[in-house]
Formats: sequence, C-alpha cells, structure tokens
Amino acid sequence: MMAVWACEKGGTAVERLDKRLASTGKWSRKEARELIRAGRAAVDGVPCRAPEAKVGEDAAVTVDGAPVGSGGPVYLMLNKPAGVVSSTDEPGERTVLDLLGEEYRGLGLFPAGRLDKDAEGLVLLTNDGPLAHRLLAPRSHVDKVYYIEVDGALDEGDVEAVRRGVTLGDGYECLPGELEPLSPGSAHITLHEGKYHQVKRMMAARGKPVTYLKRVRFGPLTLDQDLPRGGWRPLNEEERKGIFSH
Ligand code: URA
Repeated sequence: MMAVWACEKGGTAVERLDKRLASTGKWSRKEARELIRAGRAAVDGVPCRAPEAKVGEDAAVTVDGAPVGSGGPVYLMLNKPAGVVSSTDEPGERTVLDLLGEEYRGLGLFPAGRLDKDAEGLVLLTNDGPLAHRLLAPRSHVDKVYYIEVDGALDEGDVEAVRRGVTLGDGYECLPGELEPLSPGSAHITLHEGKYHQVKRMMAARGKPVTYLKRVRFGPLTLDQDLPRGGWRPLNEEERKGIFSH
C-alpha cells in the first residue's frame, strides 16, 4: 500500500503504472504488468509492485534503475564477453545490444568504440551521438587501458618500444603509449589513439602475439569489477560527469 501511496503523490494528471510503461512502446501492457509484479519498477525511487498504482505525470518512473519514457540520453557500462560483436546489428552474430534488457530496445543505443569479437571488457553504450563523437575523435586522445596476455616474455625492449611508438607491419607509426608488465606474459597497455586491432598489431610487431585482451579503462571510465561478463549497468552520476568533462 505504501508504494501505491508513493506512486500517487506525484502530480495532477495520473494514470496507471502499467499503462504508463506500455505507452513508451517498449512493453505490451501484459509485459509491463509482469515486470512491475516482479519488482523491477520504481516510482520516485520507491519500488512499486502494483500495476494499477496511479502515477502522476511528473513522477520519475524507472525500470531496473533506468529512467523510462524520459526520452533522454542513456549511458550504460557493459562488460563485453568474448564472442559478442561491438555493433548494433550483424546477421548471424550476437551483438552487444542482445545482452541488454528489453527496456533498452528501440532507444537507438550503440557502442561508443569497438572491441574485437574475441576481446572482453569495458564498452560504453549510449544513444548520445555528439558525446560519442567527441570521445572517439582522434584529437580527444581518450586513453584506453587494456589488460593483455601475450605469447612470449615481455621485456624492457617492449616497454621502450611502446614508449617511443611501435611501427606496425603496414608502416604506421603508433603514438607513444605505456606498457606496464605485470608478469612475463601479461601487462597493462595504455593507448592514446584507437586504430583497428591496434594492440594486437603492436604486440605482433614485437613478435609477442596477444592471446587475451580486456579493456579495463576508457577515458574517465573504469570497468566496474562487480560487473560479471555480459553484465551492464547505467553510469552513475560521477561517471556521467566524467565523460562530459573529458
Ligand atoms: N586493440 C585490439 O587489438 N583489439 C581491440 O579490441 C581493441 C584494441
């Protein structure tokens, strides 16, 4: 009852919570009722399990913590598993969007930057084109940090080569980066640019091919260690501030 009261305190014009969710076009009325009963909806921050609860037009409705019907931009952190492609639609492939809940369908989300199919880790999913464009523009030099494992033993020569800028097989001279070995066969590598297969090509040029690659940082965003492979969550306020002030 408490929750219904909370739903009603909002505003003047009111409508049922299930109707409000269904009006976004993301769920049928039946699906909306089910997800409300499952405890996934909240109104003004108060969980609401009553599909018939009356919701004021100004009330902030969320599903799984994500705002509903606001039409505003969405920012999600995803821990991409291997085997999933960083695109929105690729026939025969499982895409990063396939990992999301149905409430995020139809919002125009896309990955800001790509990770190879066999790579894991941090991907920012958003529908904010200008922000993604800014983060990905070469002149923005957004740092990316990867944890890598290689075939071979990393040494001072590799550290120095990355510091000076590795020349790839096709002659491209990479910008200087940082390689911090963690063990003979593993390291963190920081890049300030984002060329196709760059880490793999750099390490191949050093004769130490990458066997495992995971992005752990993208600009101001650090991969949330609590996100399981395939897990995702909305960016928190601090993270949102971070990507905007970059
Ligand atoms: N470098 C790579 O080689 N692959 C990625 O997915 C990202 C950076």
